[in-house]
Amino acid sequence: MRTVALGIVAMACLVGMAQGGNFNQDAEMTWGHGNGKVVDGGRGLDLTLDRTTGSGFQSKSEYLFGKIDMQIKLVPGNSAGTVTTFYLSSQGSAHDEIDFEFLGNVTGEPYTLHTNVFAKGQGQREQQFRLWFDPTTSFHTYSIIWNPQHVIFAVDGTPIRDFKNNEARGVSFPKSQPMRLYASLWNADDWATQGGRVKADWSKAPFVASFRDFNADACVWSAGAQRCPAGTMEASSATGASGSSWWNQQLSDMSYRRMRWVQRKFMIYNYCTDAKRFPQGVPAECKLRR
Ligand SMILES: *[C@@H]1O[C@H](CO)[C@@H](O)[C@H](O)[C@H]1NC(C)=O
Repeated sequence: MRTVALGIVAMACLVGMAQGGNFNQDAEMTWGHGNGKVVDGGRGLDLTLDRTTGSGFQSKSEYLFGKIDMQIKLVPGNSAGTVTTFYLSSQGSAHDEIDFEFLGNVTGEPYTLHTNVFAKGQGQREQQFRLWFDPTTSFHTYSIIWNPQHVIFAVDGTPIRDFKNNEARGVSFPKSQPMRLYASLWNADDWATQGGRVKADWSKAPFVASFRDFNADACVWSAGAQRCPAGTMEASSATGASGSSWWNQQLSDMSYRRMRWVQRKFMIYNYCTDAKRFPQGVPAECKLRR
C-alpha cells in the first residue's frame, strides 16, 4: 500500500557523499513539525503522534542505490492504530518505493512488520512478518540494501526478504529513479490493527517512536548525476561478484538459509501464495526459483 501522501517539497539537493548519522544535517521534518524532536545532539530523532497530528521526516539527499540502516524503537505499550514507517520513495507517477511499515497492536500482542516493493508504480508485493523480539524495549536495526540486482530487507543483519532484479523475465525493478528516505508515525486506526477493529487509545497518547543512527552508505543523486562513495563499484572487479560491498551484495548460501528460516517461522503473509488475490496467476517473480 502507498503510505501517506506527504506534501513533498522538491528541492535541489547539493549534498555530497552520503554516510551520515546526524539528523540535524541529513534529515528534515516534513510534517507535524512540533511533533518531531532531534535528540542526543543529532544522533536520534523522536517522532510523536497525538490526537492532533502525527509526524514525519525525510532525508535531505536522494539516493540511487545504497545501504540504508536505521535503528528504531517502536511505540511501546498500547500501540494499536499506530503505524511507523521507514521507506524509500521516488516522486511522481510510476514511482518506485521500498517499504518497511510497523503496524501497532494492543499491549502484549505482536506488531506486524509489513514490507512492499513498488517498481514503476506497480506494487502489490506485500510480505508481512512477526518479529522474533519485542521491538519496543530497545533499538533494532532495519536495513534496506538496494543495488542494481537486489532489494534486500534485513533486520539486525538477518535478511528477511530478497526482491531480485528479474527484468529479463519482464518484472520491473527499481533502478532508475532516485529515492529519498522517509519515516513517519501516523494514525491509521481505520485499518492497521486487527483489520481496523481496534482503535488508537488516545488516553495513552502521545505515542513516540524513536529513530537513531541513520546511516546511508549510498550513491547520492545530485544535479542529475550519481555520486557513489569511493570504491563502491570497483569492489566488483577487485573481489568478484560476491564482494563485501553493498553494491555487489547478494545472499550467500548461509544468509539465504537464514532468510528461509525467518520466512518459514515468521512470515504471516506472502503475496506469492495468495492465489485468491491473483486469479490470473501470481506475479511472474513468484514462480522463479532462487
Ligand atoms: C495484533 O494481534 C492480533 C492477535 O494476536 C493478531 O492477529 C494481529 O495480526 C496483530 N497485529 C496487527 C497489526 O493487528
